[in-house]
Amino acid sequence: MKENDRDIYPVFDRMLTRADKERLLGQHGLMIWFTGLSGSGKSTIAIALERELHERGILCRILDGDNVRSGINNNLGFSEEDRVENIRRIAEVSKLFVDTGIVTIAAFISPSNTLRRMAASIIGETDFIEVYVDTPLSVCEQRDVKGLYKRARNGEVKNFTGISAPFEAPEHPALRLDTSRLTIGQSVDKLLGLILPKINKTTK
Ligand code: ADX
Repeated sequence: MKENDRDIYPVFDRMLTRADKERLLGQHGLMIWFTGLSGSGKSTIAIALERELHERGILCRILDGDNVRSGINNNLGFSEEDRVENIRRIAEVSKLFVDTGIVTIAAFISPSNTLRRMAASIIGETDFIEVYVDTPLSVCEQRDVKGLYKRARNGEVKNFTGISAPFEAPEHPALRLDTSRLTIGQSVDKLLGLILPKINKTTK
């Protein structure tokens, strides 16, 4: 349905543009989208990356699964339908940050190509960097930081990704990081090599 059919009249054309914001910040907005199993290391790498970027004077915003699910998405569960709505809202919020020139870092399981393609099309393909945190299930399960794998194996947690719900590996991620083989520092260095040229920070 078109906006006008719903009596909605967006004012985007009268607002300052993304280019105005990017000039102010001296950086380009970008979306770094981490996908991977629970316990794969998405949040850990996201947090380490944010610190490195921040030190270089780059403004960032992290959106993380458990945080977002305790706030804006606290009415959603883990059915396929709810996972779609989870990622749709996250992508719309991310788009606001990217359009403000901010380097936006998302850490969500986002378990299917369809979900990730939806996010990319909402945010914009050219700004969307897909990073697959490709840590083997056996390692994630051994870490079991939150005790959820054990509970999923017992049947106490339903639809648990990797155990009783599917995870579809990305087809062409911009980067693949296996945290069972790389240190956090090595993962962050690989990320910086990929994204710093795109952010193109200028000092004033
Ligand atoms: S997503 O599939 O919708 O992208 P999201 O990243 O937001 O998932 O949330 C995943 C986090 O929710 C996990 O790290 C885990 O802590 C928690 N969780 C609770 N139940 C489940 C479940 N059934 N499947 C996956 N994660 C779950």
